[in-house]
Amino acid sequence: MLAAVRAAAVLGIEAYDVTVEVDVANGLPQWTLVGLAASAVKESRERVAAALLNTGFVLPPRRITVNLAPADTRKEGTALDLPVALGVLVATGQLAPEALDGRLFVGELGLDGGVRAVRGVLPIARHAAAAGCALVLPPANVREAALVSGLALAAPATLAALVEQLGAGALRRAATPAPAPPAPARTLDFADVVGQQGAKRALEVAAAGGHNLVLVGPPGAGKTMLARRLPSILPSLAESEALDVIAIHSVAGVLAEEALQARERPFRAPHHSISEAGLIGGGSTPRPGEVSLAHQGVLFLDELLEFPRHVLEALRQPLEDGRVVVARAAASVAFPARFTLVGATNPCPCGHAGDPAHACTCTAADVARYRARLSGPLADRIDMHVAVGAVPVRTLGAVAGGEPSSAMRERVQQARERQSLRFAALAGVRCNAHVAGRWLDTRTPVDAAARELLAAAAERLGLSARGYHRVLKVARTIADLDGDERLSAPAVAEAIRYRPALPSLPPAAGRASVTAAVDA
Ligand SMILES: Nc1ncnc2c1ncn2[C@@H]1O[C@H](COP(=O)(O)OP(=O)(O)O)[C@@H](O)[C@H]1O
Ligand SMILES: [Mg+2]
Repeated sequence: MLAAVRAAAVLGIEAYDVTVEVDVANGLPQWTLVGLAASAVKESRERVAAALLNTGFVLPPRRITVNLAPADTRKEGTALDLPVALGVLVATGQLAPEALDGRLFVGELGLDGGVRAVRGVLPIARHAAAAGCALVLPPANVREAALVSGLALAAPATLAALVEQLGAGALRRAATPAPAPPAPARTLDFADVVGQQGAKRALEVAAAGGHNLVLVGPPGAGKTMLARRLPSILPSLAESEALDVIAIHSVAGVLAEEALQARERPFRAPHHSISEAGLIGGGSTPRPGEVSLAHQGVLFLDELLEFPRHVLEALRQPLEDGRVVVARAAASVAFPARFTLVGATNPCPCGHAGDPAHACTCTAADVARYRARLSGPLADRIDMHVAVGAVPVRTLGAVAGGEPSSAMRERVQQARERQSLRFAALAGVRCNAHVAGRWLDTRTPVDAAARELLAAAAERLGLSARGYHRVLKVARTIADLDGDERLSAPAVAEAIRYRPALPSLPPAAGRASVTAAVDA
């Protein structure tokens, strides 16, 4: 007898239909699985057989063939265990085929017949809702699937319970899940930072407009400390953005319970030993990399110039397009990757170029080689280059901390709301950093003095068209923070100050320019 069970698999962050066909025929007892199954899927045979036997079902000594259709796409993961088990039960006459109608099944099976959590449930739930069928899934995934409205869910804890309910024609709806535990309170706050007004201001601008930024300064100046406090001032995620973020984390298998409710933007800080595949995405069935896990949030690369150059270069495509395409033999998949890049780096190998407190021991060639690790085109995509000078040690204990994150975040949130209104008619654009330069150029009123400044700076810095538009976008954000509809000269001047003269990093900052940046 032949059985067909409706299931789903995930490619990228989209789910597609998989039909699990099971045929049981006379012949030597053996179990064959076809349809481009990856190893975790091939192993389902052992889990399913044990789960069936331990739950009290019969596994007749006959020839069992399982086909996963469409047979030409590679299936990964363990979510097909449950549909395979149900297919075997139908094919061996232990379950009526009609019991499966209008339902889509996913779940991993334990050897005891327990139904265990799987990855990528949110895309599968969206798919099931679009297809108009009910979704049967592991209890541990209900909270995630419940984010999709209007979808009937059932989540029996064991295979036995599921088959009993299906047999009785009364599949119990999953209970509405209790709210996830609240996220632990933030511990990192900008109030801890003494001084550094200039760097804090720059981070506020970056958070408000989604601009890429790099902090440059000697070791111990507080670059890491500053960047790690950025999440405390990021605006919260809009509902429409949150679903994609959750889907990406779900597919990667790193979805935290709290993330389902807290609309916090991701903050990813991979170590500089990361591989290109880890950063961009990869694997024989492509998985999202750090750039996608940072989608709608921040990708923080500490010790930016310690990352291998080819790894940094791979950032160019996602920085430009807001997505990455991972091509593999099995499939070519696009993942969203619209993130704000924040880097921190020393200005030279010894770290003290331009440091008034220490002499730099590097040769000019050392410094040039070090800085060349950040290519011109990549540096050009970093809107804000910020020099961070060390705060004098004696002031550290003496003065109270600065402005708390809550006040900064308030301004950021308001600036974001202005941007949402401005871009309401533009699909996919929510902040100044992501709008087309021309669009902004033709719609933002600019004061005459500001125009003059822009033109002069374009000549002096040798700005490319992209560079010019990027200055304009940063200035727009500064005006948004001030609640200003027009671009004034001070806003433009501040934006220009963040723009380094090419190539790459700012000139090794002497005392004067460090203070200028700190006090600005
Ligand atoms: N402005 C500051 N206010 C308070 N503490 C600071 C400040 N600057 C540096 N520190 C202290 O110095 C430590 C080292 O800073 P860190 O961010 O690691 O420096 P960097 O990344 O620039 O090398 C911080 O953890 C903090 O304890
Ligand atoms: Mg550091």
